[in-house]
Amino acid sequence: MATLLISNIKSLVNTREENKCLRGKELAVLPSIENAYLIVEDGIITGLGRMEDILHPKKKFRTIIDAGNQLVLPAWCDSHTHLVFAASREEEFIDKIRGLSYAEIAARGGGILNSAAKLNAATENQLFNATWKRLEEVSRTGTGSIEIKSGYGLTVEGELKMLRVIKKLKEKSSLSIKATFLGAHTYPPEFRDNHEGYINLIIGEMLPVIAAEKLADYIDVFCETGFFSPEETETICRAGMKLGLKPKIHANQLNLSGGTQTGVKLGALSVDHLETMDEEAIRLLAGSSTIGTLLPTAAFFLRMPFQPARSLIDAGCAIALATDYNPGSSPSGNMNLAAAMSCIQMKMLPEEVINAGTLNGACAMELQNETGSIRIGKKADLIFTKPVPSLAYLFYAFGSNHVDKVMINGELI
Ligand code: NIG
Ligand code: FE
Repeated sequence: MATLLISNIKSLVNTREENKCLRGKELAVLPSIENAYLIVEDGIITGLGRMEDILHPKKKFRTIIDAGNQLVLPAWCDSHTHLVFAASREEEFIDKIRGLSYAEIAARGGGILNSAAKLNAATENQLFNATWKRLEEVSRTGTGSIEIKSGYGLTVEGELKMLRVIKKLKEKSSLSIKATFLGAHTYPPEFRDNHEGYINLIIGEMLPVIAAEKLADYIDVFCETGFFSPEETETICRAGMKLGLKPKIHANQLNLSGGTQTGVKLGALSVDHLETMDEEAIRLLAGSSTIGTLLPTAAFFLRMPFQPARSLIDAGCAIALATDYNPGSSPSGNMNLAAAMSCIQMKMLPEEVINAGTLNGACAMELQNETGSIRIGKKADLIFTKPVPSLAYLFYAFGSNHVDKVMINGELI
């Protein structure tokens, strides 16, 4: 049995006994051990503490990593991505620079429909290979677990193809992966005036296969003006819930469209985006067990006001942080960038950002007993930073890469 000792860690960050989701003031508390060691056996953390408390380190351990000067953090838990897509959309990026809005681009058949046309023309293998490369890329930036959605198929075959790609990623990757069915991402053109027809297709033809082949863990709906109404969202989510899929929904991105209210009413695991919130939605979310997932890189890319993180945290909400990696609103899956934006633009403290992007992200994927903090029994999913003067420096010096190496499941990648 290969036992690994990581010694002389300048600061071992987010070491905690409890795996529960953090809310309100709890988010600012980040337990850490200075001058620490960590022991890993077969991919699992089996020991940790202060350097002066290990005896005869060299005799007992087969491998030693000297992490002198480095901070060691839990790997990022990115709980909201659309990692499976066939092609990038930089032509729309130019349209946006020239002045078109996200909604105008969508209304002209761009946006999600543009991605759907390309996805339906791609083979499962092509999609797998393109997504595998993205997964490798984000893991190198420190992501150790990730949620991936369907939603660019919008046909029975397309949606199932996407979910089968995610299933294969789960089998082949050492990252922890969760799959979310987002058939209700937008109405395909042939159902533009027949919403009931598309909802029947989702409930009658997509969901039964997804349940039978265990292709998804969660169900998502884009609850938004011009997309799915709160009532449609509820109908679709309830059909998924009957089959064991908890809702994680796109809410309050572009408008006060009732998504947060619907998510809370359904007991959703999370409501995600939240660029456009009012007091009522904040108060409801704070009084619920639903996690609010903030996606600052999407707000940045669409030039929208950032999520009101301070009001949400001060009201007592449980907040997670994710990238929304997708070709239309966030062509980046870099959690370090999302974290820096959260500090700079949303006035989150570095401690809050780390908790929101690790333990609470894990909670938003129900992975909190496996990853998201540094604790005996959890997976050794770790980020080793380059030598930095402090924790705050990681997000202050936002344009530089501070990740020296990443360990997933006890293996350096
Ligand atoms: O989370 N808002 C809905 N869906 C994605 C964007 C999809 C796209 O533009 O391709 C999002 O931002
Ligand atoms: Fe999204």
